[in-house]
Amino acid sequence: MKRRATAQAHPNIAVVKYWGKRDAALNLPAVPSLSVALERFCTRTTVEWGIDAAADSVEINGKAGSPKAAARVSALLDLIDPQRPRCRVQTANNFPTAAGLASSASAFAALALAADGAAGTQFNRNQLSAIARQGSGSACRSLWGGWVEWRMGEADDGHDSHGLQVAPADHWDIAVVVAMVNEGEKPVDSRGGMLATARSCPFYPAWVETAPADLAEARRAVIARDLERLGRVMEWSTLKMHATMLTTEPSIRYWQPATLSTVQVVEELRRQGIGAWYTMDAGPNVKVFCERADAPAVARAMAGAVNRVEVLGVGGDAVLLPEDPEHPSP
Ligand code: DP6
Repeated sequence: MKRRATAQAHPNIAVVKYWGKRDAALNLPAVPSLSVALERFCTRTTVEWGIDAAADSVEINGKAGSPKAAARVSALLDLIDPQRPRCRVQTANNFPTAAGLASSASAFAALALAADGAAGTQFNRNQLSAIARQGSGSACRSLWGGWVEWRMGEADDGHDSHGLQVAPADHWDIAVVVAMVNEGEKPVDSRGGMLATARSCPFYPAWVETAPADLAEARRAVIARDLERLGRVMEWSTLKMHATMLTTEPSIRYWQPATLSTVQVVEELRRQGIGAWYTMDAGPNVKVFCERADAPAVARAMAGAVNRVEVLGVGGDAVLLPEDPEHPSP
């Protein structure tokens, strides 16, 4: 018997960053983090549970997945059911893959949810979040919409290290203006980058030590809908993370010239009285948080510095999608 399910998840942008692991095999973080889901950008994934084939079939954005990507997908399916049959996975993003826009977050969240639906295992959201985390850490935050915290957890097996919704999407209608500096794949992936930072950056202990206070401050700012307060701590966490990246041996620099130009545009906007705050992840693209009403002015100002600008709102929960009646499950 073949069973099939399709799920959709949004990427998330960390306000307080995850960079560093206390357990690399289980993807347990060295720091807590907090993110917001991005509306409109999404990953859609279909899992067919039980195909007549010698190996899993993994298709990413219309092409066969690389052996490395396919192995990560298969490993996640094993967490849903170690006795599982061979599966077919088809996944696609409607935004650039691997360019610091958290594509692995939405990918593994959608995969965990679709696989659970196809297998009929009925894990709860926290369990699915802990499973998605093992595919990619930040994915544990993409099971929910709105504002999501990732508590580090204490258990050795990681079952308590999963996302937790701080506030749903409709709690706070802010805009995230994404300035696409470069849509290509990043030179160093987050996984290798954060391991190298932990190994060689002399400032890493300070990064780990100061993260819980940033998390508490960001949580308070989200609950109070205080954008300036959130913006300040987001930039602080961002700059501390990039400082540890830069001072890793060998140095990791995700910024490109247009990244810095965009930061200068944001600072100029603030001097003009427009509330806008920036953040960057493991890539050159810049995400700017502002009030909805200010988004057109912010987008216009950034358009001069970069190739493409997208204005996004806050996204909702990861969901299972109804079956397409034209392509019913076999
Ligand atoms: C800079 O979740 O991609 O975006 O757990 O190794 O798969 P792995 O890393 P990943 O790292 C994301 C790092 C970040 C910050 C963040 O999203 O919190």
